Amino acid sequence: MTTRSSGDHHGNAASWYPQRRPHYGYGGGSASFRGCCCCLFLLLTFLALLALAVALVVVLVVKPRKPQFDLNQVSVQYLLVASPTSPAAAPAGVPGAAYLSLNITLLFTAVNPNKVGIRYGATAFDVMYHGVPLGVAAVPGFEQPAHSTRLLQTRVIVDHFNVLQADAQDLIRDAAIRDSVELRITGDVGAKILVLGFSSPKVQVSVDCAIAISPRSQSLKYKHCGVDGLSV
Ligand SMILES: *[C@@H]1O[C@H](CO)[C@@H](O)[C@H](O)[C@H]1NC(C)=O
Repeated sequence: MTTRSSGDHHGNAASWYPQRRPHYGYGGGSASFRGCCCCLFLLLTFLALLALAVALVVVLVVKPRKPQFDLNQVSVQYLLVASPTSPAAAPAGVPGAAYLSLNITLLFTAVNPNKVGIRYGATAFDVMYHGVPLGVAAVPGFEQPAHSTRLLQTRVIVDHFNVLQADAQDLIRDAAIRDSVELRITGDVGAKILVLGFSSPKVQVSVDCAIAISPRSQSLKYKHCGVDGLSV
């Protein structure tokens, strides 16, 4: 009867259904509402899966790789170690302080092996002697196009840095006897990979190098850089 009436007269079906068979009427309404909801749910699921598939394809096509950031070259303008008290005047030849002045140029190489661009944040590399920060080498942030190499030059100038106590003794010994002053240059470069206007989460490339400078010849003795650590 219900099928017949709904099929025959569509117009008045709605008017008398709720009165005579409230259950059925409401049941039918909520079923269609549920169907619509289900449709919407399926559509959203489909869209989510589509987005995921697009992201996967982008990742597979782009194959994002970690950028390389290395300390390539160090040139020494000067490195001077001065001791205010002459060894003869100080008790048992132990100096209380030593002063370090430095003017060096660092050349970094940034290599982007990706098919897409990369944005680097500004970085300040610490220059340290025995773990004591002497100064920073600042590298401004920049964008690097796909498949490219870029050289970045920065200068570190330290003027009369007062190295204290035990470090001062070591510094004077390093300079006068060993003729080799070892400095450490460390810093983390934050990079973001740019895909279709979106940027990836930050990828960190670590630079950790030890350099040794000869005060006598005012030149670089060696440069050792550790394996780049990568932490996302
Ligand atoms: C550092 O060296 C460069 C190149 O020789 C020079 O132009 C600059 O004036 C020096 N800076 C200082 C503070 O000595």
